[in-house]
Amino acid sequence: MFDGPIPLFMPGEYRFTLATAPWELAAHHALRRQVFCAEQRIFEGDDRDAIDDVATHIIAYTCIAGAPDEIVGTVRIHQPEPSLWWGSRLAVAAEHRRLGRLGAELIRLAVCTAHTRGCRTFLAHVQRQNVPFFRRLHWDDLDSVDLHGHPHHVMRAQLAHYPAHGRVVTSLLRPVKQAA
Ligand SMILES: CC(C)(COP(=O)(O)OP(=O)(O)OC[C@H]1O[C@@H](n2cnc3c(N)ncnc32)[C@H](O)[C@@H]1OP(=O)(O)O)[C@@H](O)C(=O)NCCC(=O)NCCS
Repeated sequence: MFDGPIPLFMPGEYRFTLATAPWELAAHHALRRQVFCAEQRIFEGDDRDAIDDVATHIIAYTCIAGAPDEIVGTVRIHQPEPSLWWGSRLAVAAEHRRLGRLGAELIRLAVCTAHTRGCRTFLAHVQRQNVPFFRRLHWDDLDSVDLHGHPHHVMRAQLAHYPAHGRVVTSLLRPVKQAA
């Protein structure tokens, strides 16, 4: 009989893709509200803005027996002018952070997707506490700015590390670490 602490359920697979279905878009907005409104309190009630109408939304979801289960990560990309792309609203659900490299893979698919679409410069406003994370992922720190009352850094992806692979679905077969 098993009498130890019940281990955290670990999904066997995460997939990353572009959100298109209404349920995917609704679930990714709910995750953003949870992270940017409830948790970080950067926005009140709703973090959506005009960029959402033109952005490509990228999601991470858990898979059970090969079928999509829960959306646990998101990021969006948009192109305000030819060949210049921005990424924003990167979020991973709290219980899936630092577990399976979800944040890193969302960034990878975001920048590679933009690169495939002709991006020559990819920028993001990165919250100050995440600057080391982006540096490790081959981003250059260009400037610091205040955004929504919070300190951010303008950072640029080194595109040589983000090839234009043209794939719209990627996966992580299993998280590399157990949660603490
Ligand atoms: C920032 C965030 C997206 C990172 O996602 P994540 O899934 O936890 O990150 P990963 O698991 O892909 O991390 C990859 C590596 O970077 C490290 N890392 C993650 N966040 C880090 C941080 N803020 N500073 C330094 N290192 C960090 C991880 O420990 C991991 O290291 P390892 O490869 O040695 O194990 C997530 O913490 C989050 O959603 N935070 C709240 C919202 C937010 O801050 N959004 C970003 C706005 S700029």
